[in-house]
Amino acid sequence: MTVQLSDRVQRSFSRSFQSYHDTACQQAWVAEKLVEEMRRHGAPAKFERGFELGCGTGHFTRLLHQNHCFGSIILNDIAPEARQTADELGAQFICGDARRVIWPERADLFASASMIQWMEDPQALLERAAGSLAPGGWLVISGFGSHQYWELSQIGTSARAPGLCGPDQMAAAVRAHLEVLSTGEALRPSYFPTPRHILRHLRKTGVNGRAQSVWTKSTLARFEAEYTSRFQSKNGVSLSYHPVWIVARKPLV
Ligand SMILES: C[S@@+](CC[C@H](N)C(=O)[O-])C[C@H]1O[C@@H](n2cnc3c(N)ncnc32)[C@H](O)[C@@H]1O
Repeated sequence: MTVQLSDRVQRSFSRSFQSYHDTACQQAWVAEKLVEEMRRHGAPAKFERGFELGCGTGHFTRLLHQNHCFGSIILNDIAPEARQTADELGAQFICGDARRVIWPERADLFASASMIQWMEDPQALLERAAGSLAPGGWLVISGFGSHQYWELSQIGTSARAPGLCGPDQMAAAVRAHLEVLSTGEALRPSYFPTPRHILRHLRKTGVNGRAQSVWTKSTLARFEAEYTSRFQSKNGVSLSYHPVWIVARKPLV
């Protein structure tokens, strides 16, 4: 990801910070899924040192706090507005690009929901996270797979994030360091009354940081006509989400 793109992504999430939380129901679903998987695999009630990348408005962060205790937890996000999330929970906040900020040594929970797709090389980040964990530590991360927003790529728009990857790739990236407890994926369409509602939804969730096109009356009309003709269903026009996740643990020795 070039500096320019990470700047655009930051500005886009900053702009949508207030509207993100209530609009991002697919990301809220994934956050629920991650804590459910942690529970299913017997994650400890208390982590001594948690670290979460891309906390945003805190869908995952709040659920982590409802289900686990922390000796301390550091939250990160590239958007400065996310400091609110940390302040509300009494957590430390580090603002900046997840790849460039200083990571705590030997965290025993490394968490991130719906963020790694913004990395050009999500596997490199996963591998680094796996290597940095304390013995016995947990890695709980979600991103998005190759079918994310496939409708948009079918009609040639560029809103998709650069680092879409599958659960097998996630597992391969951490296997040298960690025991993989579970991976998963789901294909979850959202439905909207019209393509314009989709554009509004993308703006409100801040995920349009990669879209560079400026709409004119005619490009918008063409987009609406093509989207409707190809993706209309009885529920409305569809926009597909493809969440993927991994839960893994570092052996004690
Ligand atoms: C789709 S939101 C997910 C937020 C939250 N984790 C959730 O579950 O709803 C993605 C978040 O990642 C942040 N982000 C994007 N690129 C980032 C980067 N390079 N470093 C740190 N945070 C980043 C955005 O600012 C945004 O808050």
